[in-house]
Amino acid sequence: MDWGMKNRMSRIFKSDGRTVMLAVDHGYFQGPTTGLTRPEDTIKPLAPLADTLMLTRGVLRPCVDPGVDVPVVLRVSGGTSVLKEDLSDEEVTVSMKDAVRLNVAGVALSIFVGAPHERQTIKSLSDLVDEGNEYGIPVLAVTAVGKEMVRDARYLGLASRIAAEHGASIVKTYHCDGFEKVVAACPVPVVIAGGKKLEERTALDLTFNAIRDGASGVDMGRNIFQSDCPVGMIKAVRAIVHDGATVDQAYEIYRGVKNV
Ligand code: 5RP
Repeated sequence: MDWGMKNRMSRIFKSDGRTVMLAVDHGYFQGPTTGLTRPEDTIKPLAPLADTLMLTRGVLRPCVDPGVDVPVVLRVSGGTSVLKEDLSDEEVTVSMKDAVRLNVAGVALSIFVGAPHERQTIKSLSDLVDEGNEYGIPVLAVTAVGKEMVRDARYLGLASRIAAEHGASIVKTYHCDGFEKVVAACPVPVVIAGGKKLEERTALDLTFNAIRDGASGVDMGRNIFQSDCPVGMIKAVRAIVHDGATVDQAYEIYRGVKNV
């Protein structure tokens, strides 16, 4: 890994090797997702509390202050909408040149293992890794789960390992029973998505279990920005990821901010 790649990775993962990445890229196939109808309003109070922002260029440019001191992992895949039955028909939709122009710390795309367009998305990953290597830009692979896929350790472990084998520097997947096996078989850092909105304490449980089982952090969206207190939730998640907080301690942080 050359200096630029290492430097970008160290901006995403803090000195403890962990990250709290705020995912606000959902609109790329879901449109105006609850909590992101006005992305600038959602992002503004949360960006200073995130280690990394994951979003699209179409939201980054108009909605994020370029002076904000937070690294960006840019989603560079898309091409389908939530209206389609098969979401796997994605391609790379952003040039590396534009990603460089946006001074990104990394780029992200989804791979759809076991889905109709599996090959296309894995090939896109490999091509993006080749391009990223030219510029020292790490690639985060999102192991997207098709409607028909089971989120178990066997499937998520398969998808995560395939992502790493094709050169991803970071893998994003879901927590599951046996998650430690997913992490052990993946030679690059694994971060978890939060998935659908859960009750706050349950989302903190999920975060705690993921870190306990070897995740290098979270790339979490809805369980932060759809919370009744997004700032409280991101602070609580940070406490677990970076400070070794228990779920009780983190929940008190959330409640404390909420009740101010
Ligand atoms: C969509 C994504 C999202 O960023 C991801 O799902 C994370 O968000 P959430 O915590 O809301 O699941 O990559 O493919």
